[in-house]
Amino acid sequence: MNRHKRSPESEMMSYGYEPTWSEGAVKAPIFQTSTFVFRTAEEGKRYFELAYGLTDPHAGESAGLIYSRLNHPNMEILENRLALWEEAEAASVHDSGMAAITTVALTFLKPGGVILHGHPLYGGTAHLFAEVLPAFNIKCISFSAQDSKDEICQKLESEGIKPEQVGMIYIETPANPTNALFDIEEMLALKKTLQKDGADAILAVDNTYMGPLWQQPLLLGADLSIYSATKYLGGHSDLIAGAVLGSQEHIQAIKTYRTFLGNAPSANTCWLLMRSLETLKVRMEAQQKTAIKVAEYLKDHKAVANVSYLGIDILKDKRKAAIFNKQMSGTGAMISFDVHGGEKEAFDVLNQFRLIKLAVSLGSTESLAQHPYTMTHAAMPEQEKLATGIKPTTIRLSVGLENASDLIQDIEQALMTTHVMKA
Ligand SMILES: Cc1ncc(COP(=O)(O)O)c(C=O)c1O
Repeated sequence: MNRHKRSPESEMMSYGYEPTWSEGAVKAPIFQTSTFVFRTAEEGKRYFELAYGLTDPHAGESAGLIYSRLNHPNMEILENRLALWEEAEAASVHDSGMAAITTVALTFLKPGGVILHGHPLYGGTAHLFAEVLPAFNIKCISFSAQDSKDEICQKLESEGIKPEQVGMIYIETPANPTNALFDIEEMLALKKTLQKDGADAILAVDNTYMGPLWQQPLLLGADLSIYSATKYLGGHSDLIAGAVLGSQEHIQAIKTYRTFLGNAPSANTCWLLMRSLETLKVRMEAQQKTAIKVAEYLKDHKAVANVSYLGIDILKDKRKAAIFNKQMSGTGAMISFDVHGGEKEAFDVLNQFRLIKLAVSLGSTESLAQHPYTMTHAAMPEQEKLATGIKPTTIRLSVGLENASDLIQDIEQALMTTHVMKA
């Protein structure tokens, strides 16, 4: 008889953990330990052979626990649960989203290599690519959501880049904070073209904004799906973490770098993430439901010059609608809107919010608003910000779990009591 395949949300409470391991405790305890006792010296030797890839495991043999920078029970259970959301072979977790992205970059890019990346990106990622990687002799070439595969190849040619230099294609879709959509199918075609010309490029997708519920890049053919687990996966603004999902081979390579870069998350962080995964689906669905109402309200407000919310964007933009229909199943809970006026008017509104908190980050239970132009994307050159739609008037809103009417009332009083209304 075929075993019924359960949905990920049904597995988040207990997958990969047996209460008999821990005195019957229904929840996995926090394994607050830095090191693990070997039963024999021979066992310790074998664990190291496997951990350092000196030999392949026998059939059914798994890596033993050595030291918490390499692995620990909370991390293992968490990784096994995370992988379920995108039917991934494996997952690796990291001390932050940036640690995950840095580890991926150092694993797959080598001096003399090139990373071909979509633009815009989260400000920290943009800084890593533009300022840090060049110091390791890794060149970054950017392209926009509108660029086709052929235009990107022409760009490479005009920059004198040979296809075999490209180690990674990296996109963030939807892009933070503009909601620009990159076409994963087009990126796979680009990868294929580059491979035909000798490249060994992988496709990595930052899936923080939509995943894992409404977009699953691995199921669409991407090699890596990357998360700031600080956002929806954590979901309570009480931890910083990152995650990468992919094939066993790719994740093993990433974990080897993680061991030496030393960015494995603590048992406590992993435990908190497991707690959060139990409610991931209901949280994300409730946040989306409220975001749809908030975006509808903002759309027709006379103090608002422009609203970008996927549910609205796809009604106006055929290209976005086509990409959305191919690769996404929800419109999410992230809204960007512009007020009339300039930075001062945007600040007036941000300073007036009472229920909504003025803070960076997203995907949490509480609604958060920030000013990308001077905050998360402050380091981006002005021309690039303006070209990608990040203006002094732009406010980014992450919708949380509050009552929709209360949020709308808070936005209303902020818009009404500032002179944005007088414009
Ligand atoms: C889309 C995206 N990717 C990556 C990151 C980096 O994650 P972390 O802050 O967990 O390092 C962020 C942070 O805001 C983000 O928004």
